[in-house]
Amino acid sequence: MKKKTLNILVLHGPNLNLLGERDPSVYGTTTLVEIDRGLKREGARLGARVRAFQRNGEGELIDLLHAQRRWADGLLINAGAYTHYSYALRDAIAAVALPAFEVHLSDIRKREAFRRKSVIRSVCVGCVMGKGPAGYGEALRRLLSRIRP
Ligand code: DQA
Repeated sequence: MKKKTLNILVLHGPNLNLLGERDPSVYGTTTLVEIDRGLKREGARLGARVRAFQRNGEGELIDLLHAQRRWADGLLINAGAYTHYSYALRDAIAAVALPAFEVHLSDIRKREAFRRKSVIRSVCVGCVMGKGPAGYGEALRRLLSRIRP
């Protein structure tokens, strides 16, 4: 039987629109457009539709999550610095009750102390960090296999 096409919502948080020029020694030179293109390609290969958005505002990310919640079967999120302190975003992820995967380009455990804590971790089914842009593809594959084992 043909597998159902899954819908994956990808949310990128603050400052990730500047990927490519932002602190390349930490985040590399790949742009967000290239990351999204790679995710869409990988999604298509694995039978998933990907919708990707970047927002700098906390409320804007939460509004998108609410608006897309019935379309999406799963969520991939790099919440940027909101990862470390946004209980509002954490509650929104919990509220929509989608399987969610956390992604970070850098290894947040090995950076400044304030980055070591993720307040969204407990509402996500997994996390990929420190693998640069390739981490998004890995996170997508792992998320899809959680939804559709
Ligand atoms: C990040 C890590 C965060 O600490 C930082 O605020 C970001 C990017 C990452 O992808 O490594 O904006 O989420």
